[in-house]
Amino acid sequence: MKLLAIETSCDETAVAVLEANGDEAGATFNVLGNALISQIDIHKEYGGVFPAIAKREHAKNLVPLLEAALEEAEMLREDTQVISPEKYERIVEILSREPDLTGAFFAFVNECEKPAIDAITVTHGPGLEPALWVGVNFARALSVLWDIPVVGVNHMEGHFLVALAEEKDGALSVSIPEKTLGLLISGGHTELDLRMEDGSYKLLGQTRDDAVGEAFDKVARMMDLPYPGGPEVSKLAERHREDSSTNPFQLPRPMIHEDNCDFSFSGLKTSVLYKVKEIGELSELQKEQLSMAFEDAAADVLYAKTLRALEETGARALIIGGGVSANTHIRRVFTDKLRDERPDVSLFIPRASLTGDNAIMIGVAGYFRALKKQFADIATLRADGNLSLSA
Ligand code: KG4
Ligand code: ZN
Repeated sequence: MKLLAIETSCDETAVAVLEANGDEAGATFNVLGNALISQIDIHKEYGGVFPAIAKREHAKNLVPLLEAALEEAEMLREDTQVISPEKYERIVEILSREPDLTGAFFAFVNECEKPAIDAITVTHGPGLEPALWVGVNFARALSVLWDIPVVGVNHMEGHFLVALAEEKDGALSVSIPEKTLGLLISGGHTELDLRMEDGSYKLLGQTRDDAVGEAFDKVARMMDLPYPGGPEVSKLAERHREDSSTNPFQLPRPMIHEDNCDFSFSGLKTSVLYKVKEIGELSELQKEQLSMAFEDAAADVLYAKTLRALEETGARALIIGGGVSANTHIRRVFTDKLRDERPDVSLFIPRASLTGDNAIMIGVAGYFRALKKQFADIATLRADGNLSLSA
């Protein structure tokens, strides 16, 4: 099956073309084309993602990215197309909320033959709703134009399943264990979910306030580091870890001993703020030390709660997914501690290039839904900013 995958939930616009072969237990994905534009530099000056600007940028980027992904996949055939008046009207109506996209859409599709794509997979939540809508409406318009079905993909399921991908002969091989625990850590989420054999998810615990990525970003801002703060805090923390293992700062590990799988990062973030206020002007060394103390506390809580969830569920496979799974220290803590404490558990962490938002993960998750014929009704497919994994 050949899939077109579209991701616009936050500040990355991404389009990929995948060729997938397999069944519900596992599949191989050949990435035929992969195009992505990050808006980080644009949002940097606001210190965070600005939804209206994200929407505008997605609308501007989608058509060029589609063209680039199709071209890389050698599926771009230029030829003048005739669109029936009925189709044209439906597409105009679908795109009526995306004026920035409409002109480029028709300019491109009027000159491009229908590619050999079997289905479109698109993120329809969770994320920033105005941003999600651009991708959803783009997918709906292409679906009408090319008469191919659409799968609405949950962004977090994309992070979850792509974490299982192993590279084999240049392709991504995803085999899904019967019962898999997922620790999903990103800018908007911190949750533990159990994926059951039938592909449904059970939420075991989640943050009661800030997501861990959000806490990383806020701590970075307190120390005058640029957005997104996660990688910056990580860089400083690693520097101190290499130079010295001692640290004058000790921070709390909220809820670590509570008998549940929930998290809280707001208190930890606030305790960094108190230290920053107490000190005033931070030296480079103090920034490194505070970054390390914050990262140590965050990693310890994430690990302790995950261990609890492993015991509670009896799962023997664990994935860590989402943007924060790029964090070197968190990866190390989980790898080292699980090897010592739970050698029976298989740990899957995505390779660095697949930790952040991308369209490949949307194609991967969408394929397993397409196998079950879980196609969306184009008339009612909606963006849902709060879409959850455990329906
Ligand atoms: O999954 P993602 O790309 O977007 C969302 O769906 O939210 O995650 C972005 C989050 C941001 O908060 C960013 O600071 C964090 O992931 N992040 C990191 C690292 N790389 C990205 N946090 C800690 N350490 C990192 N190396
Ligand atoms: Zn994400």
